Amino acid sequence: MGFKTIFVATLAAVALAKPIPDPLHVIRQSGPVAGQVITRCNAPGQLALAYDDGPYQYTQQLVDILTAGGAKGTFFVTGTLYGCIYNQRTALQNAYKAGHQIASHTWSHPNLGGMSTNDITNQMTRLEQALINIIGVKPTYMRPPYLSTGGNVLSTMRTLGYRVITNDIDSEDWNRKSPQQSQQKFQQAGAGGNGHIPLMHETYSGTVNTLTPWLINWAKNNNLKLVTVAECLGDTTSAYKNGTANGSSSC
Ligand SMILES: *[C@@H]1O[C@H](CO)[C@@H](O)[C@H](O)[C@H]1NC(C)=O
Ligand SMILES: *[C@@H]1O[C@H](CO)[C@@H](O)[C@H](O)[C@H]1NC(C)=O
Ligand SMILES: [Zn+2]
Repeated sequence: MGFKTIFVATLAAVALAKPIPDPLHVIRQSGPVAGQVITRCNAPGQLALAYDDGPYQYTQQLVDILTAGGAKGTFFVTGTLYGCIYNQRTALQNAYKAGHQIASHTWSHPNLGGMSTNDITNQMTRLEQALINIIGVKPTYMRPPYLSTGGNVLSTMRTLGYRVITNDIDSEDWNRKSPQQSQQKFQQAGAGGNGHIPLMHETYSGTVNTLTPWLINWAKNNNLKLVTVAECLGDTTSAYKNGTANGSSSC
């Protein structure tokens, strides 16, 4: 064997050697399995208020209402659906700092169901880069637009390490239902059983200013703790991953 052969063989051995998982790394990966559809919490006594389609003009208001009510919420945000995500940079930072969960709802809100793995991946990584630039981390939780989990969605989310959240109550705020009609859906579902993960949208004033205060009160009356989606799945450590900012500030 010449020097060159030994050198190549050594390189190959280094490349093939499996790293021994360090315990911290294992802990960071704990929490729900990626790529499987999750519709509600793991345990009773809680409610995970979850809002899609922001950030938008009501994001800061919603943060203030939740925080004042002692509630944690989850924001499934997009890059461009209601204007460029960087326009709401401060509101997002405030939401994150106050302990609300920031999660992904894709970059531009397409129906992922008919898309290639590559296009789905781009939808996720573009939003990741923007969130790293804004709050310093990227999420490990996502809700697919239109709750669309077919085609390549779940396999891609498994590869990317995303926990896929849908819902078990639909407020139908997107379907012209009034806050009062949405409230009835919660009352019909009841406060028992494992915690609910409702579908709501922070892009409607009625959802932010009427339905949310009512829900905070409903939770108090029913002894439900208002927690993030990750928390209601028993995950207090792995809602985010680190990343490197790339200096972008526009969509
Ligand atoms: C940052 O990353 C985004 C998403 O990948 C990309 O579109 C943008 O061009 C990058 N910006 C810079 C300044 O590198
Ligand atoms: C990211 O890195 C910082 C600094 O090393 C660390 O304090 C923080 O816990 C990390 N966050 C995540 C989500 O891994
Ligand atoms: Zn949506």
